[in-house]
Amino acid sequence: MKVLTVVGARPQFIKSCMLSKEMKSNLQTSEVIVHTGQHYDDNMSSIFFEQLNLAKPDYYLGVGSHTHGKQTGTMLVELEAIMMSVKPDVVLVYGDTNSTLAGSLAAAKLHIPIAHVEAGLRSYNKKMPEEINRLITDNLSNWLFCPSPSAAENLKKEGIEKGVYVTGDIMYDSVLYFKNIALQTSTILEDLSLTKKKYYLATIHRAENTDDPDRLKSILKALQKLEMDVVLPLHPRTKSKLITFNYSHLISSSHIKIVDPLNYFDMLTVASQAQLILTDSGGLQKEAYMLEVPCITLRDETEWVETIHSGWNYLTGADTKKIIESVKTIEIPQKYPRLFGDGTTSKKINEILINETN
Ligand code: UD1
Repeated sequence: MKVLTVVGARPQFIKSCMLSKEMKSNLQTSEVIVHTGQHYDDNMSSIFFEQLNLAKPDYYLGVGSHTHGKQTGTMLVELEAIMMSVKPDVVLVYGDTNSTLAGSLAAAKLHIPIAHVEAGLRSYNKKMPEEINRLITDNLSNWLFCPSPSAAENLKKEGIEKGVYVTGDIMYDSVLYFKNIALQTSTILEDLSLTKKKYYLATIHRAENTDDPDRLKSILKALQKLEMDVVLPLHPRTKSKLITFNYSHLISSSHIKIVDPLNYFDMLTVASQAQLILTDSGGLQKEAYMLEVPCITLRDETEWVETIHSGWNYLTGADTKKIIESVKTIEIPQKYPRLFGDGTTSKKINEILINETN
Protein backbone atom coordinates (compact mmCIF):
# COMPACT_ATOMS: atom_id res chain seq x y z
CA MET A 1 0.00 0.00 0.00
CA LYS A 2 1.39 3.37 -1.00
CA VAL A 3 0.19 6.19 1.25
CA LEU A 4 0.61 9.88 0.54
CA THR A 5 0.42 11.87 3.78
CA VAL A 6 -0.36 15.59 3.75
CA VAL A 7 0.73 17.63 6.77
CA GLY A 8 1.40 21.33 7.15
CA ALA A 9 0.56 22.74 10.57
CA ARG A 10 2.12 22.14 13.98
CA PRO A 11 -0.51 19.78 15.43
CA GLN A 12 -0.33 17.61 12.31
CA PHE A 13 3.33 16.85 12.88
CA ILE A 14 2.39 15.53 16.33
CA LYS A 15 -0.63 13.60 15.02
CA SER A 16 1.19 12.00 12.08
CA CYS A 17 4.33 10.91 13.89
CA MET A 18 3.19 7.65 15.49
CA LEU A 19 1.32 6.45 12.40
CA SER A 20 4.37 7.25 10.25
CA LYS A 21 6.50 5.14 12.62
CA GLU A 22 3.94 2.34 12.39
CA MET A 23 3.93 2.45 8.60
CA LYS A 24 7.72 2.52 8.46
CA SER A 25 7.98 -0.64 10.54
CA ASN A 26 5.51 -2.44 8.31
CA LEU A 27 6.81 -3.87 5.06
CA GLN A 28 3.39 -3.75 3.45
CA THR A 29 3.21 0.05 3.63
CA SER A 30 5.26 2.80 2.05
CA GLU A 31 4.69 6.45 2.83
CA VAL A 32 5.34 9.62 0.84
CA ILE A 33 5.16 12.74 3.02
CA VAL A 34 4.13 16.15 1.71
CA HIS A 35 4.61 19.18 3.98
CA THR A 36 2.57 22.08 2.62
CA GLY A 37 4.57 24.70 4.50
CA GLN A 38 1.45 26.20 6.13
CA HIS A 39 3.62 26.47 9.22
CA TYR A 40 7.20 27.34 8.37
CA ASP A 41 8.90 29.04 11.36
CA ASP A 42 11.55 26.81 12.93
CA ASN A 43 9.69 26.72 16.23
CA MET A 44 6.38 25.90 14.50
CA SER A 45 7.77 23.25 12.15
CA SER A 46 11.35 21.97 11.95
CA ILE A 47 11.85 21.54 15.71
CA PHE A 48 8.88 19.13 15.69
CA PHE A 49 10.42 17.06 12.89
CA GLU A 50 13.61 16.89 14.94
CA GLN A 51 12.05 15.95 18.30
CA LEU A 52 9.47 13.55 16.92
CA ASN A 53 12.12 11.98 14.72
CA LEU A 54 9.95 12.45 11.67
CA ALA A 55 11.30 11.60 8.23
CA LYS A 56 12.23 14.60 6.13
CA PRO A 57 9.23 15.34 3.89
CA ASP A 58 9.55 14.01 0.34
CA TYR A 59 7.97 17.23 -0.89
CA TYR A 60 7.94 20.66 0.73
CA LEU A 61 5.53 23.11 -0.88
CA GLY A 62 6.55 26.26 0.99
CA VAL A 63 3.06 27.72 0.70
CA GLY A 64 3.32 30.01 3.73
CA SER A 65 0.70 32.40 5.13
CA HIS A 66 -2.02 33.94 2.95
CA THR A 67 -5.76 34.46 2.94
CA HIS A 68 -7.67 31.17 3.24
CA GLY A 69 -8.49 31.03 -0.48
CA LYS A 70 -4.99 31.73 -1.66
CA GLN A 71 -3.35 29.44 0.89
CA THR A 72 -5.71 26.52 0.19
CA GLY A 73 -5.73 27.13 -3.57
CA THR A 74 -1.95 27.20 -3.84
CA MET A 75 -1.72 23.93 -1.93
CA LEU A 76 -4.40 22.38 -4.14
CA VAL A 77 -2.52 23.14 -7.36
CA GLU A 78 0.75 21.72 -6.02
CA LEU A 79 -0.83 18.68 -4.37
CA GLU A 80 -2.68 17.73 -7.52
CA ALA A 81 0.55 17.57 -9.52
CA ILE A 82 2.31 15.51 -6.83
CA MET A 83 -0.60 13.08 -6.48
CA MET A 84 -0.72 12.60 -10.26
CA SER A 85 2.94 11.70 -10.30
CA VAL A 86 3.08 9.59 -7.08
CA LYS A 87 -0.20 7.73 -7.76
CA PRO A 88 -0.84 6.71 -4.13
CA ASP A 89 -3.39 4.09 -3.09
CA VAL A 90 -4.52 6.29 -0.21
CA VAL A 91 -4.21 9.97 0.70
CA LEU A 92 -3.94 10.42 4.46
CA VAL A 93 -5.01 13.70 6.07
CA TYR A 94 -5.17 14.81 9.70
CA GLY A 95 -7.41 17.16 11.64
CA ASP A 96 -9.01 20.29 10.28
CA THR A 97 -6.51 22.74 8.86
CA ASN A 98 -6.38 24.27 5.41
CA SER A 99 -3.74 21.64 4.56
CA THR A 100 -6.30 18.93 5.43
CA LEU A 101 -8.87 20.51 3.14
CA ALA A 102 -6.46 20.95 0.22
CA GLY A 103 -5.21 17.35 0.56
CA SER A 104 -8.68 15.87 0.57
CA LEU A 105 -9.99 18.06 -2.27
CA ALA A 106 -7.03 17.26 -4.51
CA ALA A 107 -7.38 13.53 -3.82
CA ALA A 108 -11.16 13.46 -4.30
CA LYS A 109 -10.90 15.11 -7.72
CA LEU A 110 -8.35 12.49 -8.77
CA HIS A 111 -10.53 9.68 -7.37
CA ILE A 112 -7.87 8.64 -4.85
CA PRO A 113 -9.35 7.16 -1.65
CA ILE A 114 -8.97 9.41 1.38
CA ALA A 115 -8.32 8.45 5.00
CA HIS A 116 -9.17 11.15 7.56
CA VAL A 117 -7.65 10.89 11.01
CA GLU A 118 -9.62 12.82 13.65
CA ALA A 119 -12.88 12.55 11.74
CA GLY A 120 -16.35 13.47 12.98
CA LEU A 121 -15.53 16.46 15.17
CA ARG A 122 -18.02 19.28 15.08
CA SER A 123 -18.33 22.66 16.77
CA TYR A 124 -21.49 23.44 14.79
CA ASN A 125 -20.05 26.90 14.20
CA LYS A 126 -19.41 27.52 10.52
CA LYS A 127 -17.64 30.79 11.26
CA MET A 128 -14.65 28.67 12.24
CA PRO A 129 -12.51 27.86 9.20
CA GLU A 130 -11.76 24.50 10.81
CA GLU A 131 -15.46 23.53 10.85
CA ILE A 132 -15.69 24.05 7.10
CA ASN A 133 -12.51 22.04 6.57
CA ARG A 134 -13.88 19.19 8.71
CA LEU A 135 -17.29 19.10 7.03
CA ILE A 136 -15.82 18.88 3.55
CA THR A 137 -13.05 16.45 4.44
CA ASP A 138 -15.42 14.06 6.22
CA ASN A 139 -17.82 14.13 3.29
CA LEU A 140 -15.05 13.24 0.85
CA SER A 141 -13.33 10.57 2.96
CA ASN A 142 -13.48 6.80 2.47
CA TRP A 143 -12.06 5.99 5.91
CA LEU A 144 -13.11 8.15 8.83
CA PHE A 145 -11.05 7.45 11.93
CA CYS A 146 -12.89 8.90 14.92
CA PRO A 147 -11.15 9.66 18.22
CA SER A 148 -14.27 8.95 20.27
CA PRO A 149 -17.79 7.48 20.01
CA SER A 150 -19.33 10.98 20.04
CA ALA A 151 -17.44 11.85 16.84
CA ALA A 152 -18.91 8.76 15.15
CA GLU A 153 -22.35 9.83 16.40
CA ASN A 154 -21.90 13.24 14.77
CA LEU A 155 -21.16 11.55 11.46
CA LYS A 156 -24.17 9.28 11.81
CA LYS A 157 -26.41 12.34 12.22
CA GLU A 158 -25.09 13.55 8.86
CA GLY A 159 -25.75 10.18 7.23
CA ILE A 160 -22.09 9.15 7.17
CA GLU A 161 -21.73 5.57 8.44
CA LYS A 162 -19.68 3.74 5.82
CA GLY A 163 -15.96 3.60 6.54
CA VAL A 164 -16.38 5.01 10.07
CA TYR A 165 -14.11 3.52 12.77
CA VAL A 166 -13.72 4.57 16.39
CA THR A 167 -10.00 4.07 16.84
CA GLY A 168 -9.19 6.37 19.77
CA ASP A 169 -7.20 9.57 19.58
CA ILE A 170 -3.90 9.49 17.80
CA MET A 171 -2.47 12.30 19.96
CA TYR A 172 -2.71 9.96 22.92
CA ASP A 173 -0.23 7.61 21.22
CA SER A 174 2.25 10.50 21.04
CA VAL A 175 1.63 11.64 24.61
CA LEU A 176 2.28 8.14 25.97
CA TYR A 177 5.36 7.65 23.84
CA PHE A 178 7.00 11.02 24.46
CA LYS A 179 5.89 12.14 27.92
CA ASN A 180 8.75 10.59 29.88
CA ILE A 181 11.36 11.56 27.30
CA ALA A 182 10.04 15.13 27.51
CA LEU A 183 10.13 15.23 31.31
CA GLN A 184 13.67 13.88 31.35
CA THR A 185 15.09 16.20 28.73
CA SER A 186 13.23 19.50 29.01
CA THR A 187 14.68 22.23 31.23
CA ILE A 188 11.79 24.61 30.72
CA LEU A 189 10.60 24.61 34.35
CA GLU A 190 14.05 25.67 35.60
CA ASP A 191 14.51 28.10 32.72
CA LEU A 192 11.27 29.90 33.58
CA SER A 193 11.66 29.48 37.36
CA LEU A 194 8.38 27.59 37.62
CA THR A 195 7.33 25.44 40.55
CA LYS A 196 5.42 22.26 39.72
CA LYS A 197 1.64 22.66 40.07
CA LYS A 198 2.07 26.30 41.12
CA TYR A 199 1.47 27.96 37.78
CA TYR A 200 -1.06 28.10 34.96
CA LEU A 201 -0.40 27.48 31.28
CA ALA A 202 -2.35 29.66 28.84
CA THR A 203 -2.48 29.61 25.04
CA ILE A 204 -4.53 31.77 22.67
CA HIS A 205 -4.39 31.43 18.90
CA ARG A 206 -7.89 30.91 17.47
CA ALA A 207 -8.92 33.53 14.95
CA GLU A 208 -12.20 34.10 16.84
CA ASN A 209 -10.18 35.27 19.86
CA THR A 210 -7.06 36.84 18.35
CA ASP A 211 -8.76 38.77 15.56
CA ASP A 212 -11.49 40.23 17.78
CA PRO A 213 -9.99 43.06 19.88
CA ASP A 214 -12.72 42.84 22.53
CA ARG A 215 -12.41 39.10 23.07
CA LEU A 216 -8.63 39.25 23.12
CA LYS A 217 -8.65 42.11 25.65
CA SER A 218 -11.19 40.32 27.82
CA ILE A 219 -9.06 37.14 27.98
CA LEU A 220 -5.85 39.05 28.69
CA LYS A 221 -7.56 41.01 31.47
CA ALA A 222 -8.48 37.73 33.12
CA LEU A 223 -4.89 36.49 32.88
CA GLN A 224 -3.72 39.77 34.40
CA LYS A 225 -5.88 39.17 37.46
CA LEU A 226 -4.80 35.60 38.16
CA GLU A 227 -2.86 35.09 41.36
CA MET A 228 -0.26 32.61 40.18
CA ASP A 229 2.38 32.61 37.46
CA VAL A 230 0.95 32.27 33.97
CA VAL A 231 3.09 30.87 31.14
CA LEU A 232 1.87 32.28 27.85
CA PRO A 233 3.59 30.87 24.74
CA LEU A 234 2.77 33.29 21.94
CA HIS A 235 1.59 31.93 18.60
CA PRO A 236 2.85 34.19 15.75
CA ARG A 237 -0.73 35.21 14.96
CA THR A 238 -1.35 36.33 18.55
CA LYS A 239 1.97 38.16 18.70
CA SER A 240 1.15 40.18 15.61
CA LYS A 241 -2.37 41.01 16.87
CA LEU A 242 -1.01 42.23 20.23
CA ILE A 243 1.10 44.71 18.29
CA THR A 244 -1.74 45.72 15.95
CA PHE A 245 -4.17 46.35 18.84
CA ASN A 246 -1.51 47.99 21.00
CA TYR A 247 -2.11 45.53 23.83
CA SER A 248 1.41 45.03 25.16
CA HIS A 249 0.43 46.75 28.46
CA LEU A 250 -2.07 43.93 29.05
CA ILE A 251 0.69 41.33 29.21
CA SER A 252 3.31 43.37 31.02
CA SER A 253 2.53 42.09 34.56
CA SER A 254 5.48 40.23 36.08
CA HIS A 255 3.47 37.05 36.76
CA ILE A 256 2.75 36.64 33.02
CA LYS A 257 5.70 34.86 31.44
CA ILE A 258 5.64 35.39 27.70
CA VAL A 259 7.60 32.86 25.68
CA ASP A 260 7.96 31.95 22.00
CA PRO A 261 5.94 28.96 20.75
CA LEU A 262 7.16 25.93 22.69
CA ASN A 263 8.61 22.80 21.14
CA TYR A 264 6.81 19.52 21.82
CA PHE A 265 8.94 18.36 24.75
CA ASP A 266 8.75 21.71 26.54
CA MET A 267 5.02 21.86 25.91
CA LEU A 268 4.41 18.36 27.31
CA THR A 269 6.49 19.27 30.36
CA VAL A 270 4.88 22.64 31.03
CA ALA A 271 1.39 21.23 30.40
CA SER A 272 1.78 18.14 32.57
CA GLN A 273 3.14 20.11 35.54
CA ALA A 274 0.65 23.01 35.37
CA GLN A 275 -2.05 23.31 38.00
CA LEU A 276 -4.50 24.30 35.29
CA ILE A 277 -4.51 24.99 31.56
CA LEU A 278 -6.42 27.85 29.93
CA THR A 279 -6.61 27.50 26.15
CA ASP A 280 -8.55 27.93 22.94
CA SER A 281 -6.58 25.15 21.23
CA GLY A 282 -8.32 21.90 20.36
CA GLY A 283 -5.18 19.83 20.77
CA LEU A 284 -4.23 21.26 24.13
CA GLN A 285 -7.73 20.64 25.56
CA LYS A 286 -7.20 16.97 24.82
CA GLU A 287 -3.60 16.92 25.96
CA ALA A 288 -4.71 18.50 29.26
CA TYR A 289 -7.08 15.57 29.75
CA MET A 290 -4.49 13.02 28.69
CA LEU A 291 -2.05 14.51 31.21
CA GLU A 292 -4.77 14.66 33.89
CA VAL A 293 -4.68 18.43 34.20
CA PRO A 294 -7.97 20.36 34.42
CA CYS A 295 -8.69 22.78 31.59
CA ILE A 296 -10.59 26.00 30.99
CA THR A 297 -11.54 26.47 27.36
CA LEU A 298 -11.58 30.06 26.18
CA ARG A 299 -14.26 29.43 23.58
CA ASP A 300 -18.04 29.40 23.42
CA GLU A 301 -18.21 25.81 22.24
CA THR A 302 -15.89 22.87 21.87
CA GLU A 303 -15.60 19.80 19.69
CA TRP A 304 -14.24 17.81 22.63
CA VAL A 305 -17.58 17.47 24.40
CA GLU A 306 -16.59 14.40 26.41
CA THR A 307 -13.93 16.38 28.29
CA ILE A 308 -16.70 18.77 29.40
CA HIS A 309 -19.11 15.99 30.38
CA SER A 310 -16.43 14.30 32.47
CA GLY A 311 -15.90 17.52 34.46
CA TRP A 312 -12.26 17.99 33.43
CA ASN A 313 -12.91 20.88 31.04
CA TYR A 314 -14.97 24.07 31.51
CA LEU A 315 -16.19 26.43 28.81
CA THR A 316 -15.88 30.10 29.70
CA GLY A 317 -15.71 31.85 26.33
CA ALA A 318 -13.74 35.08 26.53
CA ASP A 319 -15.63 36.49 29.53
CA THR A 320 -13.17 37.97 32.07
CA LYS A 321 -15.35 37.31 35.13
CA LYS A 322 -16.26 33.77 34.08
CA ILE A 323 -12.62 32.90 33.48
CA ILE A 324 -11.48 34.21 36.89
CA GLU A 325 -14.41 32.56 38.65
CA SER A 326 -13.75 29.21 36.98
CA VAL A 327 -10.05 29.32 37.88
CA LYS A 328 -11.07 29.84 41.53
CA THR A 329 -13.72 27.17 41.68
CA ILE A 330 -12.34 24.42 39.48
CA GLU A 331 -11.94 21.05 41.16
CA ILE A 332 -10.20 17.94 39.96
CA PRO A 333 -12.88 15.29 39.36
CA GLN A 334 -12.47 11.97 41.12
CA LYS A 335 -13.26 9.96 38.03
CA TYR A 336 -10.97 9.75 35.05
CA PRO A 337 -12.69 7.74 32.32
CA ARG A 338 -10.64 6.54 29.33
CA LEU A 339 -12.08 8.94 26.76
CA PHE A 340 -9.56 8.68 23.97
CA GLY A 341 -8.72 5.00 23.60
CA ASP A 342 -5.70 3.08 24.79
CA GLY A 343 -2.80 4.64 22.91
CA THR A 344 -2.78 2.11 20.06
CA THR A 345 -4.68 4.24 17.55
CA SER A 346 -1.88 4.35 14.96
CA LYS A 347 -1.55 0.57 14.99
CA LYS A 348 -5.30 0.14 14.51
CA ILE A 349 -5.44 2.61 11.63
CA ASN A 350 -2.51 1.02 9.82
CA GLU A 351 -4.07 -2.44 10.15
CA ILE A 352 -7.45 -1.27 8.84
CA LEU A 353 -5.84 0.43 5.85
CA ILE A 354 -3.69 -2.58 5.00
CA ASN A 355 -6.64 -4.99 5.27
CA GLU A 356 -8.90 -2.82 3.17
CA THR A 357 -6.53 -1.86 0.38
CA ASN A 358 -5.32 -5.38 -0.38
C1 UD1 B 1 -3.77 26.71 11.92
C2 UD1 B 1 -5.09 25.96 11.79
C3 UD1 B 1 -5.68 25.71 13.17
C4 UD1 B 1 -4.67 25.02 14.08
C5 UD1 B 1 -3.39 25.85 14.11
C6 UD1 B 1 -2.33 25.20 14.96
C7 UD1 B 1 -6.33 26.52 9.73
C8 UD1 B 1 -7.51 27.19 9.17
N1 UD1 B 1 -6.09 26.73 11.04
O1 UD1 B 1 -4.08 27.99 12.49
O2 UD1 B 1 -6.80 24.87 13.04
O3 UD1 B 1 -5.20 24.93 15.38
O4 UD1 B 1 -2.90 25.98 12.76
O5 UD1 B 1 -1.30 26.11 15.25
O6 UD1 B 1 -5.65 25.80 9.02
N2 UD1 B 1 2.48 32.30 11.17
C9 UD1 B 1 3.83 32.52 11.27
N3 UD1 B 1 4.68 31.47 11.16
C10 UD1 B 1 4.24 30.21 10.96
C11 UD1 B 1 2.86 29.98 10.85
C12 UD1 B 1 2.00 31.04 10.97
O7 UD1 B 1 4.28 33.65 11.47
O8 UD1 B 1 5.09 29.29 10.90
C13 UD1 B 1 1.56 33.43 11.34
C14 UD1 B 1 1.22 34.15 10.08
O9 UD1 B 1 1.08 35.51 10.38
C15 UD1 B 1 -0.14 33.60 9.71
C16 UD1 B 1 -0.75 33.32 11.07
O10 UD1 B 1 0.34 32.96 11.90
O11 UD1 B 1 -0.89 34.47 8.94
C17 UD1 B 1 -1.76 32.22 11.07
O12 UD1 B 1 -1.19 31.00 10.55
P1 UD1 B 1 -2.15 29.95 9.78
O13 UD1 B 1 -1.40 28.74 9.43
O14 UD1 B 1 -2.86 30.62 8.66
O15 UD1 B 1 -3.23 29.58 10.86
P2 UD1 B 1 -3.07 29.21 12.41
O16 UD1 B 1 -3.65 30.31 13.18
O17 UD1 B 1 -1.70 28.77 12.76
